[in-house]
Amino acid sequence: MLRTVNATRYVVPLREGGSLPAIVEADDLGLYVVKFRGAGQGILALIAELLAGEIGRALGLRVPEIVFMEIDEALGRNEPDYEIRQLLKASSGVNLALDYLPGSTMFDPAARDTAPADEASMMVWFDGYTQNIDRTARNANLLVWHRKLYPIDHGAALFFHHDWASREKKIDSPFAEIKDHILLPWAKEIAKAAAIAHEKLTEPVLRGIVEIVPDAWLEAIPGNVNVAERRAGYLRFFVRRLQASAVFEEEAIGAHCRLI
Ligand SMILES: Nc1ncnc2c1ncn2[C@@H]1O[C@H](COP(=O)(O)OP(=O)(O)O)[C@@H](O)[C@H]1O
Ligand SMILES: [Mg+2]
Repeated sequence: MLRTVNATRYVVPLREGGSLPAIVEADDLGLYVVKFRGAGQGILALIAELLAGEIGRALGLRVPEIVFMEIDEALGRNEPDYEIRQLLKASSGVNLALDYLPGSTMFDPAARDTAPADEASMMVWFDGYTQNIDRTARNANLLVWHRKLYPIDHGAALFFHHDWASREKKIDSPFAEIKDHILLPWAKEIAKAAAIAHEKLTEPVLRGIVEIVPDAWLEAIPGNVNVAERRAGYLRFFVRRLQASAVFEEEAIGAHCRLI
């Protein structure tokens, strides 16, 4: 289960982000990066952030702690910026937030950042499994903090859920986009990472993660699929993609070999 905190102060927007994330203080005195449910990308981005993020954590990757953040209607009332005021108004209720890592920098090979082979391989496996196109040189979405790697920004993962009816067809996608993964040059141990991933992602673990998604978020998805069906659909996708994992593992290993 995730913790729930209450927003107490909108601190500053993170202008680089396309999803209008911001740093917000909460009643536990922590600072968080909030993904607002009222942002243009909609509820599916929050669901992807939560599901992929917790899968990453289950795989042993350092995803910053994810919490639910309650936003009260009153929070944005005195915000001078119109856009922010509207965003906060549209986001009252439960939002998703990540622990803010102060002083972290974006992973950058040009600045001589490197990655351990085991970790890079697991990250590549994870992004192949969750079909996350958002970890490239242009946009690493990988923070370096106290010299360790922290994957962030999983809102664009699970692209199958944007076209729910055709999700079965995406289960055994090789995910050729892995060729642009920023950690691919270091990912020498993908087969080993795959074996570890299969041990960690048991069905109870996946079920536990799918159960964290609030009913209210699943209800907010446009279309007439009920909450139980949505939940079952996510679980089925994760379980079946694990069974079909050879297809994206071979693709990633091939892409790594072509690089070097
Ligand atoms: N947990 C965090 N700690 C510190 N900075 C963060 C954190 N999460 C995001 N950021 C910063 O905010 C930016 C935008 O966040 P991100 O999750 O990538 O959103 P977007 O979907 O808008 O790209 C990131 O590029 C990073 O610089
Ligand atoms: Mg980003």
